[in-house]
Amino acid sequence: MKGIILAGGQGTRLRPFTKLINKHLLPVYDKPLIYYPLQTLKKAGIRDVLVTSGKEALPHFKRLLGKGEDFGLNISYAAQEGALGIAHALSLAEKFAKGSKVAVMLGDNIFTNHEQIKRGIENFENERGAKFFLKRVPDPERFGIAHVAKSNILSIIEKPKRPKSNLAVTGLYLYDPDVFEVAKNIKPSTRGELEITDVNNHYIKAGLARFEVVNGRWIDAGTFDSLLQASVLMLKQNKEFPIEV
Ligand code: DAU
Repeated sequence: MKGIILAGGQGTRLRPFTKLINKHLLPVYDKPLIYYPLQTLKKAGIRDVLVTSGKEALPHFKRLLGKGEDFGLNISYAAQEGALGIAHALSLAEKFAKGSKVAVMLGDNIFTNHEQIKRGIENFENERGAKFFLKRVPDPERFGIAHVAKSNILSIIEKPKRPKSNLAVTGLYLYDPDVFEVAKNIKPSTRGELEITDVNNHYIKAGLARFEVVNGRWIDAGTFDSLLQASVLMLKQNKEFPIEV
C-alpha cells in the first residue's frame, strides 16, 4: 500500500496565518501539523508517501521533509494547481500509485489510535473497493456525515445542514487502484470543487465500501479551536509517551 498526504487547499479558516504559511506547516505543540499524518502512515507500515500541495508551498515541504530519510520514509511530491478539491489533489497521485492500493490522508487530520489504523490498513490488503474511518462528533455540520444501518454504510452527505447522524467521515480513506478512474468521472460541486465525498459515494453505490468507527481521539485541525485542541492533546501525550516520527 502506498500513502498519499494531501496538504494543499487555502486554509481559509486559519487566516491570516495561512495567507503566508501553508496550514500543514503550522505548529501543533512542538511539531508541524503534517508530521502527525506522516507518523500515522509510518506506524501503519507504509514507506512510500506522496505529498501534494500548491506550487508556492511545495518547496517549503521539500525543505522540511526532504526525501524522507530522517523519518524512515521515501517521500515524493506533486504540485496541485489551484485548490480544486480533495478529489482533484488525489488524482495527481495516479502515476505515483502505479496500480497499488492507496491510503489517502488529509494533511490536517490527527489520529491517536495508531494500532487500529495499522490493523485497518493491513486488513484492507485483502478487501475490495474503499474503506472509511468514522468518528462520532458533537458538530456534524462541519464534516462529511455517514448514514449507516448496522454494518452498512448507505450514503455520505458533505456538511449537511440537518445531519442524519453524528458519524463524521474522517480524512483517512483506503482505496483500490481504480480510485483514479472514479475521480476522473466526478463533476465539480456547487462550490466548484471535486469532492472526495462524491468519490466515496460512488463506492457506496457500487456496494464496495466498508467502514470502521475509530477509537481514540481524532482531530481535524483546520480551525483555530481544533488546532489549539490538537496542541493541548499533544502536549499532554508527549508528557506521557514522547512521540517520534
Ligand atoms: O477532516 C475530515 C473532513 O475533511 C471530511 O469529513 C469531509 O468530508 C472532507 O470534505 C474534508 O472537509 P474539510 O472542510 O475539512 O476539507 P478542507 O477543505 O479543509 O480540506 C481538507 C484537506 O484536504 C486539507 O488539509 C488539504 C487538502 N486539500 C483540500 C483542498 C480543497 C488539498 O490538498 N487540496 C484542495 O484543493
